[in-house]
Amino acid sequence: MNERDSEEVLGMLTAQGYEVAPQPEQADVILLNTCSVRQHAEERALGKMGELSVLKQERPELILGIIGCMAKLQQDAIFKRLPKVDLVAGPAELYDLPYLLAEIQEKRQQDPPQRVMAVNRAFRPLEQKPAGDYRTPGVKAFVTIMEGCDKACTYCIVPTTRGQEVSRPAEDIIAEVNRLVAAGYREVTLLGQNVNSYGKRFPDGSGYRGPLGRLRLLEDDPVTLLDFPKLLRLIERRTRVPRIRFTTSHPFDANERLFEAMRDCESVCESLHLPVQSGSDRTLRAMRRGYTAQAYLKKIERLRHNVPDISLSTDLIVGFPGETEEDFEATARLMREIRFDNAYIFKYSPRPGTDAAAREDDVPQEVKEHRNQTLLTLHQTIMQSRQRSLLGTTTELLIEGPGKWPGQWFGRTRGYFSAIVDHHESLTGRFVQARITRCAGSTLFGELV
Ligand code: 5AD
Ligand code: SF4
Repeated sequence: MNERDSEEVLGMLTAQGYEVAPQPEQADVILLNTCSVRQHAEERALGKMGELSVLKQERPELILGIIGCMAKLQQDAIFKRLPKVDLVAGPAELYDLPYLLAEIQEKRQQDPPQRVMAVNRAFRPLEQKPAGDYRTPGVKAFVTIMEGCDKACTYCIVPTTRGQEVSRPAEDIIAEVNRLVAAGYREVTLLGQNVNSYGKRFPDGSGYRGPLGRLRLLEDDPVTLLDFPKLLRLIERRTRVPRIRFTTSHPFDANERLFEAMRDCESVCESLHLPVQSGSDRTLRAMRRGYTAQAYLKKIERLRHNVPDISLSTDLIVGFPGETEEDFEATARLMREIRFDNAYIFKYSPRPGTDAAAREDDVPQEVKEHRNQTLLTLHQTIMQSRQRSLLGTTTELLIEGPGKWPGQWFGRTRGYFSAIVDHHESLTGRFVQARITRCAGSTLFGELV
């Protein structure tokens, strides 16, 4: 990992509202950026993290993470040698850091708290045993299906740092999912920067965007050509994984074929993360997103037609260069219209080398702050009313582990809502039916039925 990546991490986290702490003693999150080129550099990094671990005696809420290429190579050794480390993330997970930090907070609600490992985009709960010992298997796993991004959103550094899209052969993916299922995993999340364009280009040059860049139509070659909806159907048919999720989807490539596959595949959860970024056509054009707010709405309408109880989440950027009050209002309006179940809101920050960074970052920080707060409040209101609508309903939970208090178990609905149920013995890894009785914060509470 290089300097530029460090800046990237900083930019991304400041966009999320983090600030740089003057001293480690004042930080809430400490991330050690590592490189694996020389042996003694590795030793130094481990030593340094050992020293920083002491800070946790005073402040157990501190998050410690090791990121970068050493993290990728030494994942197991780090967790073994440094019991206070919460997060290990490789270079490919850089862009997931805001989500990973959120996930750590969430896992800390569980007892015993779990740690997050995200190397090669494989998150593994700490309790996972070495291969062969499956008495307490992990519950959910993450499987990379494609890397890189061919889009060119003007604010985003990913196409530069991660390069062109390459999809992983379907046979490899299916074999990995089957291995995970055999090891007891109950849920897989398929990962990629833009999973919806899966199949465009494989390492051997095949794919629906053929070697010469010519678009081949699936209808021309239905047997050998593969796209994402077809991959979902293949995983459904050739594995026994009970739950499939996937992220991230780009609205431009999310189409009727996808919605139909989601409708038809029982294992595919009724949940979709579809980043809209803005509700203003002017801003969307400046971001080079390739769709209008109307086109996005239309897709959601088709999706809801196919999968009526779909739960939707999104990413939004406030304060993009040139964003006026009117543009922002359009975003708030879209949010009210769609009523996302979850929204990750980012304050725009220029990433050096991107097209947007050449424009003046002209929305003042206080305005970004204010717009961010407005959307967060709106999101809270929408989420609470959605949660209230679930009161009294009975839903399937996959239990991921213990909750905060003894006798509590933490799980998720197919729509990705967090829920807690009480039971005298372990439910980890089990599917249960629960009747939702109350909600608090972003968590539902239920009774087993
Ligand atoms: N500024 C703010 N947010 C950004 N994102 C990506 N680049 C930037 C940036 N320069 C957000 C987008 C993306 C999410 C992963 O990060 O909303 O979907
Ligand atoms: Fe970045 Fe996503 Fe746009 Fe690709 S599709 S350039 S990863 S925001």
